[in-house]
Amino acid sequence: MARGAKIYEGKAKILYEGPEPGTIIQFFKDDATAFNAEKKDVIDGKGVLNNRFCEHIMTGLNALGLPTHFIRRLNAREQLCHKVEIVPLEVIIRNVAAGSMAKRLGLEEGYQLSRPLVEFSFKEDSLGDPLVAEEHIEVMQWATRHELDAMIDMAFRVNDYLSGMMHGIGIKLVDFKIEFGRQFDEDGNMTLLLADEISPDSCRLWDIETGRKLDKDVFRRDLGNLTDAYSEVARRLNILPKGG
Ligand code: C5P
Repeated sequence: MARGAKIYEGKAKILYEGPEPGTIIQFFKDDATAFNAEKKDVIDGKGVLNNRFCEHIMTGLNALGLPTHFIRRLNAREQLCHKVEIVPLEVIIRNVAAGSMAKRLGLEEGYQLSRPLVEFSFKEDSLGDPLVAEEHIEVMQWATRHELDAMIDMAFRVNDYLSGMMHGIGIKLVDFKIEFGRQFDEDGNMTLLLADEISPDSCRLWDIETGRKLDKDVFRRDLGNLTDAYSEVARRLNILPKGG
């Protein structure tokens, strides 16, 4: 499918104009970055795997009636999506303390939270995506109260779905980050859609039996081969691309 002009190039993906108005093509690169792009590498095959993860997860969510931007996978590295205006927030759900939360609060990584927790970061690379409170979001008008409630509700639904999917293949969903976008129809009506990606780049996934990390921390913390870790998750989900 012919892609149009480049709209945006991020750290791991490129967005192009899609074939129909209101669509985009999302292209998954092999680039891996961490610590606000201070650490960089090219990981052979990561883009192909992440395209598959997104297809699998977003298709499942669409089928459950949770609206996502995903329409269909086009080829190894590209997927067709609805065009949205991204809400400048990262919505993080945590089931277990790890990463920045463990560091911030002096908790041991692996501390089981009494219930899932939602956090928000303001999406701004130059500031290192700072953690913000719901009050900041409303006062700065990054989202309305109504949108915030809808995002929280959808984020917990994604957590239920994804935790179950991972548990079924012997993996603990520790935490994940999602983003939302506003889709407008010709009459200007707005629908909030789950956008961007869900993949081991944006989740923490720990093997339940061994504790082995199967996510981007393998790259961030030099714990081994990232493609091997992602391929293991894809193999268990039965979505490993042929030849992969
Ligand atoms: O680093 P931190 O512990 O805050 O990350 C929480 C979760 O959000 C992790 O699963 C991480 O991979 C994800 N994340 C992300 N993109 C960011 C920041 C965090 O996907 N910019």
